[in-house]
Amino acid sequence: MTNRIELIQGDITKLQVDAIVNAANTSLLGGGGVDGAIHRAAGPELLAVCQLLGGCETGEAKVTKAFKLAAKFIIHTVGPVWREGTQDEEQLLANCYKNSLQLAAENDCKIVAFPNISTGVYHFPKDLAAKIAVREITLFLEKNKVPEVVIFVCFDQDNFDIYKGLIKGNRHQAIERDA
Ligand code: APR
Repeated sequence: MTNRIELIQGDITKLQVDAIVNAANTSLLGGGGVDGAIHRAAGPELLAVCQLLGGCETGEAKVTKAFKLAAKFIIHTVGPVWREGTQDEEQLLANCYKNSLQLAAENDCKIVAFPNISTGVYHFPKDLAAKIAVREITLFLEKNKVPEVVIFVCFDQDNFDIYKGLIKGNRHQAIERDA
């Protein structure tokens, strides 16, 4: 049984992994939620670099160094705002995971941590978002050797409970561990 998907509950900025994924906005200039936490922890150099990136389209992803974070890279992706499923949000969220994984592979990131993209300020339904995330990660891992391990980092209890239920039956058995 390959343990290539892990699940933890905690703060993504604390993880010593190759890349952490940021749930950013199209400006890439920081904000609240996990975006704010990552910018605070990475320090002001991150904003300076992001100012040169020219923003990011919803569903797309861009990579930067991680500066003061324990991780090597930050992969910034912009999730869709939930508009009752009327604006192709499911496909856009799937694209966030696909494009982030592609960038992780291109940068030889062996261990990558994802937050629950779009499920906070952007109000994407948590259970639907989790299904999309687990589906896209599982498909990518079945076709690619890198990343070797993907960690789902749940900050809130709702998401953690949803992912626990979802991943249990997954081919890649989850390891639950404290952050
Ligand atoms: N570590 C891991 N996950 C976190 C952390 C953290 N330190 N802080 C918050 N989260 C979780 C939230 O609990 C939520 O499940 O990240 C998930 C995504 O929530 P948001 O950060 O609100 O992101 P999102 O819903 O994608 O909205 C993006 O919010 O912060 C702004 O600039 C950001 O405009 C963008 C929007």
